[in-house]
Amino acid sequence: MLPVASPTPFMPAILPGQAPIPFYLADISQAEMLAVQAVLAGNRHAGGGQQTERCHALLAATLPGSTPLLTQSCTAALEMAALLLDLRPGDEVIMPSWTFCSTANAVLLRGAVPVFADICPRTLNLDPAAAAAAITSRSRAVLCVHYAGVGCAMEELAALCAAHGLALVEDAAQAVGATWRGRALGGFGVLGTFSFHASKNISAGEGGALLINDPALRARAEMMWEKGTDRVRFSRGEVARYTWQEIGSSFLPSEITAALLAAQLTRCGEITARRLALWERYHALLTPLAARFELRLPEIPAEAGHNAHIYHLRLPDAGRRDRALALLAAEGIGATSHYEPLHLSPAGRRMARARAPLPVTEDCGATLLRLPLHNELSPADQERVVQRLIAALSGRWH
Ligand SMILES: Cc1ncc(COP(=O)(O)O)c(C=O)c1O
Repeated sequence: MLPVASPTPFMPAILPGQAPIPFYLADISQAEMLAVQAVLAGNRHAGGGQQTERCHALLAATLPGSTPLLTQSCTAALEMAALLLDLRPGDEVIMPSWTFCSTANAVLLRGAVPVFADICPRTLNLDPAAAAAAITSRSRAVLCVHYAGVGCAMEELAALCAAHGLALVEDAAQAVGATWRGRALGGFGVLGTFSFHASKNISAGEGGALLINDPALRARAEMMWEKGTDRVRFSRGEVARYTWQEIGSSFLPSEITAALLAAQLTRCGEITARRLALWERYHALLTPLAARFELRLPEIPAEAGHNAHIYHLRLPDAGRRDRALALLAAEGIGATSHYEPLHLSPAGRRMARARAPLPVTEDCGATLLRLPLHNELSPADQERVVQRLIAALSGRWH
C-alpha cells in the first residue's frame, strides 16, 4: 500500500463524497502531449533546436523589440539578469520583500545586496516612493515584481531609474500574457523574466525566459546562455566553429520542455481568457460580502491588463486568516497563504536589508489568502470555496 501523505494546500485532504479542490492544476491539452511525443520520436531533444526557436518566435511576437531566451526557470533567468548587469560586491538592488526568494538570491549570488522597499497597499507592487527613499550611492538597479500578474506603476519606476541612472529589471514570473497600457509586461525594463513553472498560467513543469530589451546586452546574453560560447552564432552560420568567449553557464532547457512550452504558448489567449472568467466569478461572489466580513479584495489599476494568475484576498487579521486556511484545508479546499516576507526570513535577516519599516508587506504576509484558481474549476467548485470561506469567517463551521 502507498503511504498516505498528509494534506497540504496543493494536494488537500480527500473527504468521502467530496472531491478535493487543488490550489493549482496546469491546463494541459492533447496538443502538449503530442508535441512532447513528436520530439521524443524525432530523437533530437537537446536544447537550442527547432522547438526552442518556436518558443522564441511566439514570445517575440507579443514583445516587439525584445529578444527572448528560454531558460530552465525564472530563477535561472534572474541569475542571467544579475550577471548581465555586472553586479559587484557591495552594489545594492532595490526590490520588494513581497516576492519569492529567487529575486533576492540572484543578487546575492553576485555578492550584491538586496534592499527591500515596501509595496503599495492597493496593488501589492513595489511602491515607487518607497523605492526612491531606498536609493543610495551604491544602488545599481530596481528589480520590480508584477504581483499576481498585475503591472507595477511602470512610468513612475522608469522615471525614477532614469533620474538616478539605475537599471530597471522586471521579475515578470507571474505576468505572462499580462499588459500595462496595452504593452506586454516583461518588455519595459532593460531585462525581464518569465516563469513557466507548473503553478504558473503557462506551464512547462519547470521553465522560464529571459527577455532582453536592451540590444546592447543581446550578444553577451546569447553566449552566457550557451556556457559562455558563441554557439548561437555558429548555429546561425555566422562563425565557422564555436569557442569559449565569455563567462556563462548552461541556462537553456531541453527540446522536450520547449515543445511542451510552445504548445502552451500557442494556447496562451485561450488559457488566460478562461482564468479571467474564473477570477471575475470569484470577484462577483465576494464583492457583496467584502464590507460585512472586512475582506480586502484585489484592486486592478485601470492601466493593467492582468492575467488572472492569482485570486487573493486579505482578511482582517492573522488569526482569522490562519483559522480559515486550516478549516478549508480540512475540507479538501486548497487555499493557501503566500510569501513569508523576505526581510523576516532567516536568510533575509542575515544577508539583505531594509532601510525603513515594511508595514504593508508584513500585513500581506500575515493576512493574505489565495483561493484555488485553475481551469478545471466548475461554478459549483467556486461556490463551495466561497461558501466554506464565509462559514469559516462567520464561525458557522458545519
Ligand atoms: C516573483 C517570482 N519570482 C521568481 C520565481 C521563481 O520562478 P521559477 O520557479 O520559474 O524559478 C517565482 C516563483 O513562484 C516568483 O513568484
